[in-house]
Amino acid sequence: MLLLLGFSFTVFGQWSNGQVLSSYFDQSPFCNRTLSNVVNEAFWTNQVTSLLSCFDECNGRASCKTAAFDQTTNNCRLYQISPNEYDYTSVLTLPSDIYHMRKLCENGGSRINSNCVCIGGYVGSYCEKLMMDCSEGFESGHYTNQSGIFQIQPTAASSPFEVVCRMQEGGYTLIQLNDEYNTENFNQSWEQYKQGFGSLNRTHWLGLDHIHDITSSRTQDAYVYIVDVMAQTPYLRKFVNFRVENESMEYAMYYSSSEAVRGFNDLGDSLYNLVGQGFTTYDHDNDQSPTNCAQNYDVGFWYNWCALCNINGRMGISVNPGDVTEAHWLNDLGSYAVIKHIEIRLKRSMTGMPSL
Ligand SMILES: *[C@@H]1O[C@H](CO)[C@@H](O)[C@H](O)[C@H]1NC(C)=O
Ligand SMILES: *[C@@H]1O[C@H](CO)[C@@H](O)[C@H](O)[C@H]1NC(C)=O
Ligand SMILES: *[C@@H]1O[C@H](CO)[C@@H](O)[C@H](O)[C@H]1NC(C)=O
Ligand SMILES: *[C@@H]1O[C@H](CO)[C@@H](O)[C@H](O)[C@H]1NC(C)=O
Ligand SMILES: *[C@@H]1O[C@H](CO)[C@@H](O)[C@H](O)[C@H]1NC(C)=O
Repeated sequence: MLLLLGFSFTVFGQWSNGQVLSSYFDQSPFCNRTLSNVVNEAFWTNQVTSLLSCFDECNGRASCKTAAFDQTTNNCRLYQISPNEYDYTSVLTLPSDIYHMRKLCENGGSRINSNCVCIGGYVGSYCEKLMMDCSEGFESGHYTNQSGIFQIQPTAASSPFEVVCRMQEGGYTLIQLNDEYNTENFNQSWEQYKQGFGSLNRTHWLGLDHIHDITSSRTQDAYVYIVDVMAQTPYLRKFVNFRVENESMEYAMYYSSSEAVRGFNDLGDSLYNLVGQGFTTYDHDNDQSPTNCAQNYDVGFWYNWCALCNINGRMGISVNPGDVTEAHWLNDLGSYAVIKHIEIRLKRSMTGMPSL
């Protein structure tokens, strides 16, 4: 029996549902060791008839990540943590006939051809963690062909939150969407811009805290994407190393350079004079103008002596050139373009990557 321990230990058997056990569980790297406090943290303990029925109990519970079976007592313990979350520094040797198995495909993932196919924003070979941003989800291979609402958890964020991911286009995280059907009022307070508003599947502002968390966790480029009623091809401009500071820095916005993007209509840079500026809302003035630019433009944004664009602005059928409250982007759409859709997207920056 002892020879069956460790990595040489393989379970051949059938589940009650007829599926082979080994396709649902991996052996933990330390099958016969665990922590004393981990033993106490089992959320379910019971005597069962066999090793297989112990793992069956785990498989039937969504919250179970690890099952441990004690051959001498037939005790089965289920844990909500996986072996790689254990504290390796203080392992306690247990009687060697306790087997730990880690459940494959956590968080709703399913096993297909010996791989886990994850859902909802989870990534990793066990779907054990949330992606930090949509780029990571795209790169992980789990979400190359899906766009929609996903959960992310950037390292800087204390809890997960939902974002819109444009996966098909390469893993963009949306931080803003404004369109001609806009029912959302972008004339919102500091607190609203901080927390975010709108509906993720429609017009929305993700929230300055979330934007700060995403841009301070991994280097991001921002892309301003504009569709006007005339052009067939959307306009796009890339803002390299885009980041937004925290609230005590008034959510100041920075980027290092901007450039055109191949395959899109070229857009000039209408943000250049806003670098380093804090965010302004009608109730929180950080701009350089003697007036409050958010009140002049009817929306919150980064302003200097106000701005050369209004991406949060109102969209309509006709434009009144010179009306700064309407959606516009002066370089190079001028003040006559009729804009019907705008997005600000983030994508992990490759520019800032260390060269090999
Ligand atoms: C099981 O425990 C023994 C004693 O601590 C250790 O030598 C052995 O490497 C362990 N086996 C595995 C697979 O971790
Ligand atoms: C991606 O999605 C399209 C349309 O939704 C579908 O036709 C195609 O088969 C998908 N490709 C993969 C690799 O899943
Ligand atoms: C924006 O909201 C503020 C506060 O509710 C209000 O005083 C102001 O008139 C609003 N501006 C517009 C254009 O609605
Ligand atoms: C919009 O998104 C929410 C989840 O955030 C979802 O419950 C709702 O069904 C969606 N509505 C539409 C029209 O897609
Ligand atoms: C905000 O950012 C500044 C500069 O990056 C930093 O010094 C400060 O500690 C941060 N404040 C909080 C509350 O995180």
